[in-house]
This record gives sequence, structure tokens and C-alpha cells, in this order.
Amino acid sequence: MLFERPAPGHLATLVEVCFRRGGLAGRQARPGEFRELVSSASLVSAGTVSATRDAPHPRWFIGTGKVEELAAAIAETGSTVAIFDHELTPAQQRNLETRLECRVMTRTELILHIFADRARTREGQLQVALAQLAHAQTRLVRGWAHLDRQSGVGGAGGQGAGGRVGAGAARGVGETQLELDQRMIAARIRQVRERLASVQRHRAQSRRRRNKARVPTVALAGYTNAGKSTLFNALTGGGAEAADRLFATLDPTLRRLAGADAEVVVADTVGFIRDLPHTLVEAFKATLEEVAEADLVLHVIDAAAPDVDDSRAVVQRTLAEIGAGDVPAIEVWNKMDLLADPPPPSPNAVAVSALTGAGIDALKAAVLKNLGLDLVATRLQLPPTAGKLRPWLHEHGRVVDETVAADGSMTVDVRLSPAQLRRWRAMAGAAGCLPSPGRAVTAPA
Ligand code: GTP
Repeated sequence: MLFERPAPGHLATLVEVCFRRGGLAGRQARPGEFRELVSSASLVSAGTVSATRDAPHPRWFIGTGKVEELAAAIAETGSTVAIFDHELTPAQQRNLETRLECRVMTRTELILHIFADRARTREGQLQVALAQLAHAQTRLVRGWAHLDRQSGVGGAGGQGAGGRVGAGAARGVGETQLELDQRMIAARIRQVRERLASVQRHRAQSRRRRNKARVPTVALAGYTNAGKSTLFNALTGGGAEAADRLFATLDPTLRRLAGADAEVVVADTVGFIRDLPHTLVEAFKATLEEVAEADLVLHVIDAAAPDVDDSRAVVQRTLAEIGAGDVPAIEVWNKMDLLADPPPPSPNAVAVSALTGAGIDALKAAVLKNLGLDLVATRLQLPPTAGKLRPWLHEHGRVVDETVAADGSMTVDVRLSPAQLRRWRAMAGAAGCLPSPGRAVTAPA
């Protein structure tokens, strides 16, 4: 550990401060969210200490009386960590830890804790490690436990940030512990960045391969807990983790859209959240590139959430921030099973229940239509002169059946998108062998 700080344990006393003035009060818009975050981090809440202030106390964040109240609550419940639904300055955090004799966590640290727990792929783990190190770097202040001492290297390594931080670094003459910690953390950040760059090169290559093969990608985006992973499973028939915990998903998971004639890749992504610390948005930008570079975004909305408009706006803002503002999008109003009155249909929105499967086929059809891949079963009568156009049908459509008559004319049953059918007719017309236009023999696939 960079700091000799108490371990967080599992039992938490929560601290919520309502500010009468200023922007910090906005978070109260979603009061249950803090508690959800705490349980997502596998921590148990022993109780909440609430306060109302005009501004943070410079030394303690909360008032001196509240510090005593918090200390009593911690002692009474045996809590091992006090979690603030706010950001604290490093000095405030250090003062509180010294006074309370237990770990004090900020909102950013809580979210980092959850992210560290959820990261599944190598890339996700490295991104979390980097975010943790960057955060630890901002916490390096004089006077935190041993930091200002001249002797003793001690343990080195951001907690949960991937082990020891440059444990081999030798200290120069007169270098303080603080300087040494700064140097070691910078070295570790460089190391993690290099590894991350190599992992990301691989992912970029695989995306290029997909682009080259013209496999369209549909990315799921949405407020955390909106039901993205559940929808991802419903669309792909897969088994991505779906849990009633925030941020169940951290890494983009890619899978094929099930039951479609055309090849389409679906990408599940990290859930968005309001007040996501900027370092985290930065850290996950690369992962979220999958969204920015998608052909279509499915914005998953929890239609049953009390603050649905607010969460929807947060997601729209975040999409714009990560450069995905211009990607075509369909709003997927999820959890319809929880609503008595489904909203009226609108052109760019589909109502579904990822849990019961209601509306999923309509959503798939909307996705394929949006991508120009809504295949229509078509019977084409080809004159004998059109033989040279036949390979095109095999390459671009899905030929279901074909028969050749004695005179060389052909009947081809093929599934084509409307765009492909137009292209076929143009090519056949130009080749002077326009076949009978055929007719759609079934509904759109
Ligand atoms: P993060 O990974 O945290 O961003 O969450 P997510 O958006 O991937 O949500 P997830 O699929 O994990 O679902 C969150 C919770 O909502 C789970 O308890 C799901 O069972 C539940 N859920 C998802 N879809 C529906 C639905 O259509 N109806 C109902 N009633 N619950 C749903």
C-alpha cells in the first residue's frame, strides 16, 4: 500500500451531506443510488449519518459535531469503513481517517472499488488499475501516515491497482518518502499504460477485421442497471452476467445477434452513471470506443425507473462526450412488464421486456431495418442470359433454393435486403437481362 491506511472491511457507515447551495446538491435526485452503489461493492450498510451544510468544512468536510456523531456511530456498529457520497480533499480524508481510526472512502473510491471487482477482461483490469493509480496519485499528500518520513521504503503499490509500485526503485539522497511514492507511482502508471496500449492495439485490429468484413456492430448503451446485460442475452442468446448490482458489466462483450440471417455483432458496454468521476470516463474511453464506432446504438432505458428522464439525459450527454452523439440510435424502453400502461409507439423507440422476451423480435426487426439488413424472401425469375449475375446473389444474399429449367432460365429463392434488391435490379437492368422483379413471398425476416 502507498498509504498505511486501515483496510475497508465490509461493514460501512454511510455519510450523506445535503448542501443548501451550489451544485453538490444535485445528486440527491436519486437518493437510493448511493445505497445501491454500496451494496454493489459487496459492502454492508450499518447505517447512515446525514448532514446539511452550506459548504464543506475545510478540515473535515462535515462539521466537528458531525465528526463526533460519526465516530460514535462507527464505534456503536463496529463499522470498518465510512463512505462519503462525495469527493473529499486528500487532507480531509487523512484527517477523518486519523480521527475515526477506520478507512474513509470517497464516492470515486467506491466506484473504483466496484469497477475493480467487475473487470473481467485484461483490458478492463488494466483500465481499472490505471484509474486507481491516477486517483492514488492525486491523494499523495504530506503527513498521511508515514509519507513524510525519511526512512523505510515500506510496502508500495496502489491498493487493488495491480501490486507493488516499482518496489525496486532506489531512493536518492535526501529524497522524502512522498517524493519516492510519487516516483514509484509514476513508474507504475507508465508500465500499466504500455500494457494497456498493447491490449488496445489487439482490439483495434479485431475491430478493423470486422469493419473489413463489413460486419455491422450494434452497441448497447444505457444507465447502469437499465437491463443492458439482460437485453444482450435476449438478443444474442448468450450468457453475459446479468445481476441486480450496478456495473455488472465492465468490458465490452461481443456476440452475434441471434436468429438473424445477416451477420451482426452486438456489444455490451459499461453502464453510465451521473457524476461519473472524470478520471473514470477517461479510463473507459477506449472501451467505450466500441460505442462511438458502432453502426447503431441501442440506448437501453429502464422505463420503470422513477427518474427516467434524468437518466436518459445523462446517457445522451455521456454518448456525446465519448464521440457517439452522431451514431444512429434506437431507444429501447425496457422493463415494460413493470408498467401498467406502455407508452405509445414512436419511430425511433421500441418497447421491450428483456426479462420476459416481449418485444424482442420487434427490436431485432428494427435493428436489421436500421442497418439496411431487413431481408425479404424474394423469388427471382432469371433469363438464361443472367447466369453471370448469379454469383452476386450468392455473395450478397442468402440463396434458399434455385432451379434451372431446360431452356437455361433459373428460378432463385433468395433473401435480400430492400437495398440489395434495388442494387440487383440496377445491375440486371444494366446487363440487359432484367428478370421478372419477383415478389416477396414472406414477411420481412
Ligand atoms: P450494469 O452492468 O450495472 O450497467 O447493469 P445492466 O444495465 O447491464 O442491467 P442488468 O441486465 O444487469 O439488469 C439489472 C436488473 O434489472 C437485473 O435484476 C435484471 O433482472 C433486471 N431486469 C432487466 N431487464 C428487465 C425487464 O425487462 N423487466 C424486469 N422486471 N427486470 C429486468
